[in-house]
Parts: sequence; structure tokens; C-alpha cells
Amino acid sequence: MSKSGYDMLLELVQKRRSIRRFKSDPIDDHIIEKIIEVARWAPSGFATQPWEFIVIKEKEHRQAIVDFTASYWDYCLDMEKARPEWQGKTWQLKGMTNEPGDYSEAPVYIILFGDPRALDALPMGVQCDKHRKQLIYQSSLANAFLHMQLAAATFGLGAQWYSAVQTPYSSCLIKDYLGIPPEFDIYDMMVLGYPAIKPTKKFLRKFSEIVHWGIDNKGKFRTDQETRDFVKRARAWVTGMHAKKTQS
Ligand SMILES: Cc1cc2nc3c(=O)[nH]c(=O)nc-3n(C[C@H](O)[C@H](O)[C@H](O)COP(=O)(O)O)c2cc1C
Repeated sequence: MSKSGYDMLLELVQKRRSIRRFKSDPIDDHIIEKIIEVARWAPSGFATQPWEFIVIKEKEHRQAIVDFTASYWDYCLDMEKARPEWQGKTWQLKGMTNEPGDYSEAPVYIILFGDPRALDALPMGVQCDKHRKQLIYQSSLANAFLHMQLAAATFGLGAQWYSAVQTPYSSCLIKDYLGIPPEFDIYDMMVLGYPAIKPTKKFLRKFSEIVHWGIDNKGKFRTDQETRDFVKRARAWVTGMHAKKTQS
């Protein structure tokens, strides 16, 4: 029996996982184009489509971007000193995230950035509401980014958010390096390549815990204590080595 559209979609979203170690094998340009084509079809608030994409393949340019984000990890770790005690140990970035050098093998980076001038197409009611305007802008860019992640998974590629590019220091220097006008916003960067690791089991909240039907919801959401326990478990998962090396 052939798979239903739903089965295929569920399989795809289960297949898409964050990958943080890559093989250096190149990716054909037509695959990169197909990934961005899927992003082009993403829904955006009032059809503003405020997105632009820059594809970076050259090693020296990829390295420059990693260098611009390198100091982020130092101050990120430093800021962990401010973490409340009940949450346990500070982050251990090693092995879980994008410390400098992690991505050196990935052959392609795609930077997704937003052009806020497109937001002039929003209704005046939204333009006069800064918070909502920002939400629509960010959500539209997030949709495009997730579309790319899903498209990458269909080709057996691994992909990753590299949010360090958003910090004022990194984005300022990256925009200058890539000729992106300063008034544009770097949304995020997708690191793309064939996976050199297998992700471990995903950490997921239970369906019955998060879905609430109807209006009788008083007392049915997590207590403060349950939420705190969740925070501890989430941190333990994300700071652990939630990926295994594959045989190359
Ligand atoms: C908006 C957003 C930003 C993220 N930024 C980073 C990042 O900077 N570095 C990183 O290692 N992972 C980043 N991630 C990946 C998440 O850590 C990851 O999606 C989460 O742990 C769930 O794992 P999965 O993607 O394998 O399902 C980001 C994810 C999202 C949605």
C-alpha cells in the first residue's frame, strides 16, 4: 500500500534533525537551488516574503563567518555564571553546539536574512503595532528557514541553525563582509552537508501533555514544579552528547 501524504510528512519531520558534524563531500548546486525553492513557497505574513538568501561555498568565506562568531562562545559561557542554581550545572558547549571549528567540514552555508522594507506591505493596523509587526516578520523568516531544513532532509542532508550569526557583533561584521545593507536583519544561518553523525533519540514532550481540548482547562497545565523538572531534563538532553559518530 502506498504511503499517505500524512505518513510521508510525518516521516520527513521525524527524519529532520539538527546535525552538528559534517562530511566534506560537496553538494550539487541544483540541490541547493531546490532547497531554496522550497523556502520560496513558505507562507509569509500578508505575502510580504521579506527574505533573501546568500549561499556560501568557498572555504575562506565559510571560515571568515566562523571567525566572526568565535567570540560568541566565550561570552556565552561566561554568561552562564548568571544561571540560577536550581537549574544545575552550567552549559557544557563542547560536543553539542556550534563552537568554532565544528562546521569546518560542512561544504555549504546559507544565510537567510530579512529586508524590513517589505513590511511596508503590512496593513497599517499592524505597522502601528511594533510587537506584532516584529512577530510577523520573524515568523515569516522562520517558516522559510524550516522549509529549507525539511527540504534538506529529503536529500539525506544534515542541516543546522547557526544562531550565533544574529548577535550584534557577528551580524555587523558578517553584513559588512557579504555586502548586506546594515538595515537588513540576519535571521539565521543554515549549515548544510552530509551528516558525519547520527542523531540520538529526540527529546519530546508527550502528546497528551501538550494537547488540550475544549474549554475545561483549569489546573490542566504544568505546575511550576513540573516545568522546573522539565527545564532540568531539557538542559541535560541538550548539553549531553545527543549525537553519535557514524562510520564514514
Ligand atoms: C530558532 C532556533 C535556533 C537554533 N539555534 C541553534 C544554535 O545556534 N546552535 C545549535 O547548536 N542549535 C540550534 N538550534 C537547534 C536546536 O537546538 C534543536 O532544534 C533542538 O535541540 C531539537 O533538536 P532537533 O533539531 O534534532 O530536533 C536552533 C533551533 C531553533 C528552532
